[in-house]
Amino acid sequence: MSGKVKFEQRDTLKEKPEGNLGFGQYFTDYMLSLDYDADKGWHDLKIVPYAPIEVSPAAQGLHYGQAVFEGLKAYKHNGEVVLFRPDQNFKRINDSLARLEMPKVDEELLLDGLKQLVDVERDWVPEGEGQSLYIRPFVFATEGILGVRASHQYKLLIILSPSGAYYGGDTLKTTKIYVEDEYVRAVRGGVGFAKVAGNYAASLLAQTNANQLGYDQVLWLDGVERKYVEEVGSMNIFFVENGKLVTPALNGSILPGITRKSIIELAKELGYEVEERKVGIDELFEAYDKGELTEVFGSGTAAVISPVGVLKYEDREIVINNNEPGEITKKLYDTYTGIQSGKLEDKHGWRVVVPEYK
Ligand code: COI
Repeated sequence: MSGKVKFEQRDTLKEKPEGNLGFGQYFTDYMLSLDYDADKGWHDLKIVPYAPIEVSPAAQGLHYGQAVFEGLKAYKHNGEVVLFRPDQNFKRINDSLARLEMPKVDEELLLDGLKQLVDVERDWVPEGEGQSLYIRPFVFATEGILGVRASHQYKLLIILSPSGAYYGGDTLKTTKIYVEDEYVRAVRGGVGFAKVAGNYAASLLAQTNANQLGYDQVLWLDGVERKYVEEVGSMNIFFVENGKLVTPALNGSILPGITRKSIIELAKELGYEVEERKVGIDELFEAYDKGELTEVFGSGTAAVISPVGVLKYEDREIVINNNEPGEITKKLYDTYTGIQSGKLEDKHGWRVVVPEYK
């Protein structure tokens, strides 16, 4: 435990936004900051005003992409502020850091620092339907040197953004997904399983193309055969086939989503059969033709559970469940968000209350 984290007060506080928050558009008054250099290790944990930071134009993170991030949320219910499975995010950030040859962080220290930051910002946690405080921890290389080697200096920041639904509009709004058959996101042995900034950079061209054709996001196929489904731009993917929940097995190139993992656990408890396996894109269209593909949804921290209403692959476009969220999708959404928000019992101990630090 770090004790009370150093706190640098700002002169004036910002106006808080009201109404439709969108996603990741507003930022709170403060952020958590932690620095690393090879001699001192991680040091100088502090809560500082949210403001632009100074970095060397030669910072390695800007040139060679040593940058990883996480996403989690805080909810407010009956005055209590709660984080959802934050231990999982700090565990995963260490897996991502290790893959990019960046120094691991002390998970306990960070969780304690995050709780203190969220405590300071508890008035920023929105309580509206589908709203939460989105939390974005990230680490990037700051050493100003152009040689290609692991940086000796890094900065970790955690910024906070009161947010609503990722896709805008209502929660459970259906999305239109384009199955990408030209570009690939990741290959086994690469960095697909890690939450690294470059994976998202690599996805943008395909996403823009899909947006121009009227689709929200792309569904990636495997990088070798381009036959098996992997994940969507900002979420994992689930299919309801013959009443069973089917999702691509983690294979090294798919992000191990914390929402994905939670949904699998909850679905099994609710009595659904869940299969984690290779899912062929042809299999899905064949199942659709036989009337066996009845629901599709994505899962992610930002996206929560997002029903897919339309899937486009090559020259076919199929409409799932009349472009409406299906029964299983809704049941899982209600259960998952009910636990997150505190409206349903948390049997798993997934909710972590943010204490009031005096
Ligand atoms: C999240 O769901 O937290 C993500 O990181 C996905 C996206 C917003 C990049």
